[in-house]
This record gives sequence, C-alpha cells and structure tokens, in this order.
Amino acid sequence: MSVMDAAAGAVRGRRPELYARYRLPEPVLVTRPTMPALAKYQEQIAGIWERQWLTNNGQLHQEFEARLAAYLEVEHLSLFCNGTIALLVALQALRIHEGEVITTPFTFPATVHVLYWNRIRPVFCDIDEYTFNLDPNCIERLIGPDTKAILPVHVFGYPCNIGAIQEIADRHGLDVIYDAAHAFGVRHRGQPLASYGDLSVLSFHATKLFSSIEGGAIVASTAAEKKRIDFLKNFGFADEETVIGPGINGKMNEFQAAYGLLELDLIDEEIVRRRALVELYRRELADVPGISFRLDLPETEHNYAYFPILVDASAYGMDRDALHAELKQFNIFTRKYFFPLCSTIPCYLSLPSADPKHLPVAERVSKRILCLPIYGRLAPETVQQICAVIKVLGKS
Ligand SMILES: Cc1ncc(COP(=O)(O)O)c(C=O)c1O
Repeated sequence: MSVMDAAAGAVRGRRPELYARYRLPEPVLVTRPTMPALAKYQEQIAGIWERQWLTNNGQLHQEFEARLAAYLEVEHLSLFCNGTIALLVALQALRIHEGEVITTPFTFPATVHVLYWNRIRPVFCDIDEYTFNLDPNCIERLIGPDTKAILPVHVFGYPCNIGAIQEIADRHGLDVIYDAAHAFGVRHRGQPLASYGDLSVLSFHATKLFSSIEGGAIVASTAAEKKRIDFLKNFGFADEETVIGPGINGKMNEFQAAYGLLELDLIDEEIVRRRALVELYRRELADVPGISFRLDLPETEHNYAYFPILVDASAYGMDRDALHAELKQFNIFTRKYFFPLCSTIPCYLSLPSADPKHLPVAERVSKRILCLPIYGRLAPETVQQICAVIKVLGKS
C-alpha cells in the first residue's frame, strides 16, 4: 500500500467522526452569481414592455455598452450575446480564417473551439508555472509560415506577460487577441488589462465575476474596428439593404443588457468582498503542507474572480482528484479548472503540438489545480470551515 492509499484509508476510516464535526450544513458551490434586487430587474423589464423593443441595439443595449466602456475605461467596446461568439467574431474581424494560431491548452474549451470553427489549426504552447498563462519563452519556436496570430488567455484574471508577447508578435507581424474572459476590471501597469493586444474578449456568463446572465464583449483599438465588429455581429448588415460580409447573429438582447446595467452597480462591492475572502483563504492555508496558491502580481489591480490552489500529493498526503472527491462528501463543491487540458480533447489530440511532452508545465498544473468556492456572498466563516476541512484531510 502506498503512503497516499494509507492516508486515504485513514480518512475513510474516520469519516463518520469527521463528517459529524466538519460537514457543511448546505452545499457550497464553487461560485454563485451576484444577483441584483428582483424589484430592480422587474422595473427594467417593465420598461422593455413599454418600449416593445426586445433586441437589436435597443435603448438598454446602448446604455449598457456606453456605461460598460466607461467603467472599464476603454473607448471601443461591442456587446455580444456571449463570450464564445465574441471570440469567433474577433478572429473574423481581423480576417483570421486560415492557417495557425498559437494558444494555450490550459483554458476553457471555447478558446480553442473558436479556432476550429474558423478553420484555424490551434498550436498549443506551454504555460508559465506561476501565472498559468502562455509562456512567452515557448511561443517563438512554434511560429511558422502559417502562423497568423497569438491567442493568449489571462487565466483566472492574472495578466499575461503582455510586453513579451507583444514584442514577439511585432517581430513576426502577428495579431494578438486576448481571451480576457476572466479579467473583468483587472488593471495592469496603469491601464485596463482589456485594452492590451489588437482585440480583447470578455465573457459575462453567469459563472463569471461580472455577468449579464449570458453575454460578452470585444474591446477594439479603433472606431473603425468596432464598426466592423458591429456589422459582423449583426449578419454583416451595414444598413437595411447592404450586407458587407459573412456576419453572424452575436447580438445581446435587452434582458441581458438590463441585468448587466444593474450588475454594474454591484461590481465594485463584489470585488472588495472577494478580495477579503482571498486574503482569508491565503491566511488560513498558508502553512498547510502540499497546498500552494498564488499571490498578487506587481503593477496589477486584481479582480479576485477565482481562488485556485495547487495540491502536491506527496506533501499533502492526497492528490487533487482525491481532495476534490473528498470535499464533495463535506458539501464543498470545487472545480478542476482546467482539467482536462484542451490538447487532450479528441479533435485536437492528433496535433503535433498536443503531444504532452511539449506541454510539461500545463500537464503538471492541470493535474494539481483546484478552484475553491468564491463569491461575494460567501461568508468568511464558511471559508474558515472549508479551510478546516482541507487542513484535517491533509493531516489524515
Ligand atoms: C477562458 C474562457 N474563454 C471563453 C469562455 C466562453 O465564454 P462564454 O461562456 O461567455 O461563451 C469562457 C467561459 O465561459 C472562459 O472561461
């Protein structure tokens, strides 16, 4: 029997005692949406009823787009029905619909699937051990005659090494599209993170820090780019009778915009609360052998959207998968973001760049990472209880 089997056996043997003492009374999910007051949403919906305008650049859409751009301190922002369609359109907007794009395997599948849907071959690049983002040192050797762009992800809202990535892109004449789905409101080096790169794409899915139920946006660098993006998300219509190109339906509707507007009033407080919870997690887990986490980066105002930990099985006494399963028994529902790696999805598995030997850091991180529950309404006492369970399981 291995040391880990023995440890797991010890936990199983003590389960009734541990459950009685540590099991949370209600399920704690990895996240919960920040929901506005129902009465306020009903008020917004009453307005939609009065105007009888449900979608297609309605009044609330216009208001939300303007207020969101102001909040994020970006000039050219286009709203979308979701982040995936926004990513799809971002590639089309830059006329990237063939060849190869360098991206990360350590992401949500949407990042890579939009390449596939645009008939682009994804080229997987390994990640940085600390930030979990594309490792610029690995990008250059993957650039070939068919490379069109780099598609990095600000994973968990931690900024990519934007200086190094831009320098490589400039040297090789490549576009950079950032998947900023996790990076709402993050600021880096005195600027909104979403303002870097040729385009940045945000997601406002209900599981995200900031939500419009479903939703997303592209942040463009110029008014002309925004105009093209707005045509593309509306079937290519430039006016009633002119279709300028093969557009799609990527429009956000009035109900989403209404929700998003109300969320804008809550987001600052949500970030403050999450920050306090992240700090509490860091304090509580600081000395647990085999459990590590990341600290704030310099020159960065974080959004504290996620709290990922890494589990070192030999030091903790249990591997990530076992911890994930054990925590469920205590009513604590964590998520293995991002496992499995996108490079292991069957449609990408045969790509040369998907070979695990080229992705050692991504492989290692993906097997150890676990995102713990975090959302503004999560009580600090619950975080303490979650940490108590993690501690007691580790000692077993
Ligand atoms: C990194 C990343 N990219 C893209 C998406 C897709 O966004 P959406 O769900 O809004 O389509 C998500 C999450 O959903 C994500 O986490």
